[in-house]
Parts: sequence; structure tokens; C-alpha cells
Amino acid sequence: KTPVALLISGRGSNATALIEACKAENFPARVCIVISNNPEAPGLEVARQAGLRTQVVDHRPFGKNREAHEQALHACLTEAGAELICLAGYMRLLTPWLTSTWAGRMLNIHPSLLPSFPGLHTHERALEAGVRLHGCTVHIVTEGMDEGPVLGQAAVPVLPGDTADALAARVLKQEHRLYPAVVKHFLDKTAPACQGGEALLVG
Ligand code: GAR
Repeated sequence: KTPVALLISGRGSNATALIEACKAENFPARVCIVISNNPEAPGLEVARQAGLRTQVVDHRPFGKNREAHEQALHACLTEAGAELICLAGYMRLLTPWLTSTWAGRMLNIHPSLLPSFPGLHTHERALEAGVRLHGCTVHIVTEGMDEGPVLGQAAVPVLPGDTADALAARVLKQEHRLYPAVVKHFLDKTAPACQGGEALLVG
């Protein structure tokens, strides 16, 4: 199994979905460490409960020196033997140094159908734009924010009367299906290219 590091900043529900998926014998990854920039991230406790190694690499002591923070992060990643990074609600912009160091080995999940709605507040913006389909994307991380090659997407309808919270919950459910499916496909090229129904397309 490929050792995978999960990077989180908060709740950690996508990390939880990946941790669960990794329990299956035929899943090609194992979680070698869960790292958070936020010492209060609830997802850290989930990881600890699962018996996983956790580490806080707080960005605050580094002030404006993003690269120094990332060097500390990178030291933890290599020390834990990570071969793949899955950003799972990691809410920090990354410098070109980290993205190039991990080029092709860092994935991210984003709560929109990229290239629509990169950045924050995706559900509010989808509602404002009046789109009828919304969803989530897993992509390879490159230098540009939310810009790398798309590996998989899951779509959900926008329903009449939707609030941002209702839409976020509908998308999140799909995030939890999509991320493990994409990681499996990414690491294990024998996985089927399309899984779990017509709304979830991987590969
Ligand atoms: C998820 O919806 C994820 O797609 C999003 O943050 C949430 C984290 O939830 N990520 C981004 O917006 C990245 N720019 P989680 O901590 O429960 O997985």
C-alpha cells in the first residue's frame, strides 16, 4: 500500500472518508500521517481515535514566511515516508516551492465543478450564478490555485429553494465518495474508469 499523508485544517470529514477507505484490504493506500496547520482541527481527534500518527505544523509561528512553514511540513512528510499527499480541507495557499517539490504527488478536493468557482464560498457563488449542476472535483495540485489537471468529478443538482448549507451538504456526501474513488484509480490503474453511477466520473 502506498503511504499517504492527509493534510487538514478543520472538520476532517474527507480525511475520515479516506481513513475508512484505507481500511479495505484491496485499497492501494494507507494513511502514514495526518497533519494539520490548526492545532484545534477536530479532524486530528478523528485520526488519533483511528490510531493514526498525527502532527500539528502550526503556520502562525512562521508569520509571513510561508516557505519556512512548508519546509517544516515537508520535513514531517518525508520523515513519515509519505509518497502521496491528499489535501483534505487544507485551507492554506501553497507556494511554488511545495507544489513543485511534490509535483504529480499531491491531490486536492475542491467543492465545485472546476474550472467553475475556484477559491472560497463555492456554494454561495453557485447559487448566485444560477447553475443547475454543481459538485466537487479532485485534481492534481499545481502552482495555480485550484488549477491542476482534473482526475475526477461528482455532480449534484441544484434544487429549487436550496440554501448554501443544503447544497454544501449534498456536495459533501459526494466528496466522501469521490475522493477515495479517485485515490484508488490514481494509484491502482486497474480500477474501472467510471464508478458508482453516472454522476461520478473518475479518470
Ligand atoms: C470540503 O468541502 C473541501 O472540499 C473544502 O473544504 C471542506 C473541508 O471539509 N476544501 C476547500 O474548500 C479547499 N479550498 P472537511 O474538513 O470536512 O473535509
